[in-house]
Amino acid sequence: MTPSFPSDFLWGAATSAYQIEGAWNVDGKGDSIWDTFSHTPGKIRNGDNGDTACGHYYRWREDIALMQSLGLQAYRFSISWPRILPAGRGAVNAAGLDFYDRLVDGLLEANILPFVTLYHWDLPQALQDEGGWTVRATAEAFVEYAAQVSRRLGDRVKHWMTFNEPAVSAFLGHERGMHAPGWQDTRAALRAVHHHLLAHGWSVPVLRENCPDAQIGLAFDCFPFQPASPSAADYHAARLEDGRHNRLFLDPLYGRGYPADVVEDYQMRALWPEEVIQPGDLASIAAQTDFLGINYYTRVIVRADIPEEENLPRTNFYAPQSEWMEGGWGDNYPDGLYQTLCRLHFEYQIPRLYITENGASYSDGPDEHGEIHDSRRIAYLQTHIQAAARAIQSGVPLAGYFVWSLMDNFEWALGYTMRLGLVWVNFDTLERIPKASALWYRDWIAQHARIPQASA
Ligand code: FCB
Repeated sequence: MTPSFPSDFLWGAATSAYQIEGAWNVDGKGDSIWDTFSHTPGKIRNGDNGDTACGHYYRWREDIALMQSLGLQAYRFSISWPRILPAGRGAVNAAGLDFYDRLVDGLLEANILPFVTLYHWDLPQALQDEGGWTVRATAEAFVEYAAQVSRRLGDRVKHWMTFNEPAVSAFLGHERGMHAPGWQDTRAALRAVHHHLLAHGWSVPVLRENCPDAQIGLAFDCFPFQPASPSAADYHAARLEDGRHNRLFLDPLYGRGYPADVVEDYQMRALWPEEVIQPGDLASIAAQTDFLGINYYTRVIVRADIPEEENLPRTNFYAPQSEWMEGGWGDNYPDGLYQTLCRLHFEYQIPRLYITENGASYSDGPDEHGEIHDSRRIAYLQTHIQAAARAIQSGVPLAGYFVWSLMDNFEWALGYTMRLGLVWVNFDTLERIPKASALWYRDWIAQHARIPQASA
């Protein structure tokens, strides 16, 4: 099949602030929970941290030139909240806003549309010290932060994502302890879910006010949860996992309130945080948005007879014919992207979707000629793009595709051991080398991009 894409379809790549910027303590930036977490011994593989990362804070011009050489039409990046508001609220750090201001101007000059994520997990430590996402005041502070950023950038940035993967932030951060702030408390995680959603909903009107022609959404990691067998037990387990991970967020975002089966399950275990849900909250959360960003990597196969945590994303042992990505990342299952896109559009009637992350962890490095032949990544991207094209044919209003990631970077708890970039980074010298996948993507874009300039 020759895939066909709408004429305004955008091809891009994505990153996030903590994973690439480095410069963790310069120019007035405050600490984030990821600074604290990664500086805590034992939390990150090999004791890695994001202090330097890819040095993008200093090399952003070079990185824009790299994007331009690949022909990217759009670039999704996140803003570091503690660079803007070092204490989380109150005093604004002008140098922080200036950095992103220059970045946005540089992108637009290079004809690359900026897609901004406001929260990609780096909460100011000062807010964490007051309870972080378990308290309502953090959602209020987020609105202040969203207002500051959109007031400054809203004349040029038209695509806004409030949050990246709130489920990961809430559960891996507060229930599993694998991400900052490293808590292991399900009730706290559920309080965090509510406050993430509330912060999202409250900030939508503020973004609209500061940027009347904004396209607003969030980036959500949606996995298909599939039962491992036809048994009723596996079916119900998969249904509940889908509820806890997907519907717990999507249902309230699209005006349906929290899913009854999930609430009941938590209530039975006295975990549902009724005390933080106030009248009017659900209406705020359901604020009308313009698009949903999908982050897709893998599926999850669920069995009822093993401990729940083994069913979680990236620990899928059960797909018999699937090809595994490195590092236990999950299996290479492009059909899951097709299924997810169709499900989201048809079940929630979402008017516009972007694939805001899709990519693969394969750590191929330079050969003796300094070339990186990451053919497995090319195959992964090809098959997933085909799946996206099939979804479009099935009627899904998909408007763009962003590879995760532009370059190898700090992969959270896995440090620098996982490489997902189109561009290889030498973490000692910070040299960047486009991999074969980057060159393949460049050629793909040249053949398929129909909009000549940043105007979508
Ligand atoms: C997603 C995150 C992103 C990156 C990729 C591999 O869950 O949003 O920052 O870590 O996984």
